[in-house]
Amino acid sequence: MRAQVVIIGGGPAGLLLGQLLHRRGIEAVVLERKTRDYVLGRIRAGVLESGLVALLEEAGVANRLRAEGFVHDGTRIAAGGEIFHVDFKALTGKPVIVYGQTEMTRDLYDARAATGARTVFEVDHVAIHDADGDAPFVTYAQSGAEHRIDCDFVAGCDGFHGISRQAIPLNLRREYEKTYPFGWLGVLSRTPPVDEELIYANSERGFALCSMRNDNLSRYYIQCALSDHPEDWTDAAFWAELRRRLPEEIAARLATGPSIEKSIAPLRSFVTEPMRWGRLFLCGDAAHIVPPTGAKGLNLAASDVHYLYHALAQFYEERDREGIERYSERALLRVWKAERFSWWFSSLLHRYPDQNPFDLKMQQAELAFLRDNPAQQRAFAENYVGLPY
Ligand code: APR
Ligand code: PHB
Repeated sequence: MRAQVVIIGGGPAGLLLGQLLHRRGIEAVVLERKTRDYVLGRIRAGVLESGLVALLEEAGVANRLRAEGFVHDGTRIAAGGEIFHVDFKALTGKPVIVYGQTEMTRDLYDARAATGARTVFEVDHVAIHDADGDAPFVTYAQSGAEHRIDCDFVAGCDGFHGISRQAIPLNLRREYEKTYPFGWLGVLSRTPPVDEELIYANSERGFALCSMRNDNLSRYYIQCALSDHPEDWTDAAFWAELRRRLPEEIAARLATGPSIEKSIAPLRSFVTEPMRWGRLFLCGDAAHIVPPTGAKGLNLAASDVHYLYHALAQFYEERDREGIERYSERALLRVWKAERFSWWFSSLLHRYPDQNPFDLKMQQAELAFLRDNPAQQRAFAENYVGLPY
């Protein structure tokens, strides 16, 4: 079998790249380890920057998002019993769109199926060969049979636990990592959102976030201990703890109900460099992880896709390798800025076990500076709505 591009991983990064390439007449095969239903069962964040929305438009998959997504012109931040508003639209001219990543992934799968493009599910033992030469190929097993695809390029879109990153020799790879001493306990419930906007809360008892999927589907998170298990948290205990971490007027109107999903995610910052080795490109979570505070994970995958898509189009349409040569450098410049923002926003809102009274004062002063200073608000808003590609 032959393809111009083999995309390893059918998550949002791989699917978006595949769809954009298809529209430009570049043929890509997607290899996915799981089933479509498994991929669509994952609950992830749901805040889309305008850069990602533009890519989805270009890929021809923005219709439902336009109809069903919520336009958010700002966000609210609660601390010390008070709450303030940051107006993205006034500060940057741009909103964000709240639309579940699961729904976006579903739209991409539907669009892919409609094009007849090849997606191979439930693949095993995926291996990348000769990525540093001129004729790379990918091998995999499916239903016990071995397969080989010869290609021009390989896009490693297989997430943090994928194999693509490991295909780059260790002596050429440098990894940077920070783990955080807490996790996020998330609950999805069929209840109306507590507010029109997202609320990020810093409280004495730890961080809390009020988010949403639609008019009758809410997503809430609270900071928890890494040793906690979702089973340890009854719904009643979750709602009680969430209420304690929100300003009274918000807590008073929180609608609660049975959870339909409950999970704990650890927080991590991670980057691998470089993001290209010969004809292999890393894209999305395969190359970097951010803590979820600020919802940059998906949006960062999208900016990688943007740079890679343009690099491949430039190669096939103009026989120009410039975009390919500079892919890693361009993608990483933006990756590190989003890493900084996600790390900073996390540090602003969480309780750290080793925080001393001075550290707490610094956090309060940082929050007050954000509340009171228009330049700081603008810097925050520019990062939140997404830095330019
Ligand atoms: N072979 C084939 N597919 C694989 C392999 C493998 N060896 N390993 C992992 N995969 C698949 C996973 O099953 C998953 O569907 O690759 C896909 C990677 O998808 P994500 O983990 O969603 O990563 P990405 O597409 O980069 O999306 C980034 O989505 O996952 C969130 O937090 C993430 O919001 C961020 C965004
Ligand atoms: C979510 O809706 O799941 C969400 C929103 C914003 C974040 C993180 C997660 O910063």
